[in-house]
Formats: sequence, C-alpha cells, structure tokens
Amino acid sequence: ITLHVQNPDGSRTTLEAPVDMGLSLMEYLKACEYDILATCGGMALCATCCVDVLEGEDKLNEMSDDEYAMLDTLPDVLPNSRLACQLQLNPAMDGLVVKLHHAE
Ligand code: FES
Repeated sequence: ITLHVQNPDGSRTTLEAPVDMGLSLMEYLKACEYDILATCGGMALCATCCVDVLEGEDKLNEMSDDEYAMLDTLPDVLPNSRLACQLQLNPAMDGLVVKLHHAE
C-alpha cells in the first residue's frame, strides 16, 4: 500500500508499505527511520507513536478504549490523532496521509 507522511516543512514523503508482515504503522515508520520512541513497545501506553491522520481517517479501525484513554492524556491531542502502534497495516489503509504528532 502507498502511505504518505507529511514532513514538518509541508512536503510529503511517499512510502510503499507491506501489508503481509503483520506490522503496525508504528513499527513500519520506525523501520523507515522516523523518529518515534515507542517507549512502551506498542502497548498503547506511551503515546510517543502518536500520528495525526490528515487523510483517510475513515479507512482506519475504530479506537479501542485503551487507545482513547491514552490519547486523552496528551495535552495537544487533535480529533484526528491516533496511536500508530494500534493501527495494523492493511489493504484498506492505501493512500493514508499522516503526520507525526511530535515532529517539529
Ligand atoms: Fe507506545 Fe504506541 S508505542 S503508545
């Protein structure tokens, strides 16, 4: 699937992500050397993997209560913020546009 990451300067980087490896969006972005701490290792407990979904929010799975509760602790959370570790890459996510929430 094709994913787009919006950079801090407003440009977008296009990535071709595999959907058959069981990776979460967090794991994939980390593998692409994006600066994501993922301190909790994908347990929805640290929120360092937070992304803002710019396009394609409707393509994503619903938020779990854990994800919702964690996002709710971020002071600057946006309505389109998600935890990338809770989003397993799948064919429906083709064309998704995200921005790292903590990127400057
Ligand atoms: Fe910690 Fe996603 S990696 S909340």
